[in-house]
Amino acid sequence: MNRPDLAAPQPVHSLEARYYTDPEIFKRELNGTLATTWQFAGHASLVRNNGDYFAFSVADQDLFCIRDRDGNLRTFYNVCQHRAHELVSGTGNCKVVVCPYHAWTYELSGELRSGPNIKSVEGFDRKQICLTEVRTEVFCGFIFVNLDPDAKPMADWFPGVEKELRAFVPHIDDLEPLEWVEISERCNWKVSVENYSECYHCALNHPTFATGVVKPETYDIQPRGYCLRHTTECQNLDRMSYPIDTEASEHAEEYSSWFLWPAFSFQVYPGSVLNTYHWRPESVDKVVVWRGWYTPAGVDSDVIRRLAVQDRGTTVEEDIHLVESVQRGLNSRGYRPGPLVIDPACGVNSEHSIRALQQWMREAVDGVNGI
Ligand code: FES
Ligand SMILES: [Fe+2]
Repeated sequence: MNRPDLAAPQPVHSLEARYYTDPEIFKRELNGTLATTWQFAGHASLVRNNGDYFAFSVADQDLFCIRDRDGNLRTFYNVCQHRAHELVSGTGNCKVVVCPYHAWTYELSGELRSGPNIKSVEGFDRKQICLTEVRTEVFCGFIFVNLDPDAKPMADWFPGVEKELRAFVPHIDDLEPLEWVEISERCNWKVSVENYSECYHCALNHPTFATGVVKPETYDIQPRGYCLRHTTECQNLDRMSYPIDTEASEHAEEYSSWFLWPAFSFQVYPGSVLNTYHWRPESVDKVVVWRGWYTPAGVDSDVIRRLAVQDRGTTVEEDIHLVESVQRGLNSRGYRPGPLVIDPACGVNSEHSIRALQQWMREAVDGVNGI
């Protein structure tokens, strides 16, 4: 038997299956990765006027965003400081936040304003009571929150992304959601994110994407901060599967995407067509992927609607089968994590982006280097 040469470089192996199948690890992620990173909340057009709000959840925590009387956007845990009833649901507009249980009333900036009979309580100090606020940033019109009060700003996590995105989509502040497509996948959220983050599987599995949108041989993905930056050249414009506006920006003939660890991606198709991915982990083996499509002022567009349908019927559909099969495989007793195909020259048939992603996953779960 040959002795292994210990000095020889060893391939990097994929993560062990338990990272994707163990409910304990998912619980750790709810308190760790998902609670200490920037998570998408909703689009700023939902809270344009003072008093507008919307409820959502992140890492199993119910939250709501609201625009206060001074026009500041704030996010609070959606819980009354009296006896823990939920404060708001869905979307709406209010002058003050009134708890549906005993009618304690809060200012839009979170301070308790009044409550029935509270004055009868000796020593009750209204000023000591305030809703619990959550870090909030607006990034090109997209609202992100971080449950970690000490988190670094998004600009530190994702260096240069905002500037670059604005160069690709100069009208990004005017965009509003036209269509949301919700896709439920029976797999761990990291399986879906990994699948999104490599194009080693594209030629075999995405014929429309690979022949109608991008030139796969030019595809590459590189980490920058905690962003995975996808770049590629596009097909001859006459082979595109939709008409494109080549004047939309200086990058109008390019495809690009910016995956923001751990669960959101901005994608720009030729013609400066913005669309987004948002992964919402639901349990250890279920994730909901939201695909968002946008137009200026949310004005209807046949081209965008057709693109959304084409995307749902091709790339998305093709990926569902892949990720669900992988999840079944990760539960197999016969699976031994294989070597990643890391080509030093990178490129479409290399999984160097998976190495970066799995390193972040490991750090987040095992606390190695910590985020
Ligand atoms: S729980 Fe909100 S007023 Fe009592
Ligand atoms: Fe794919």
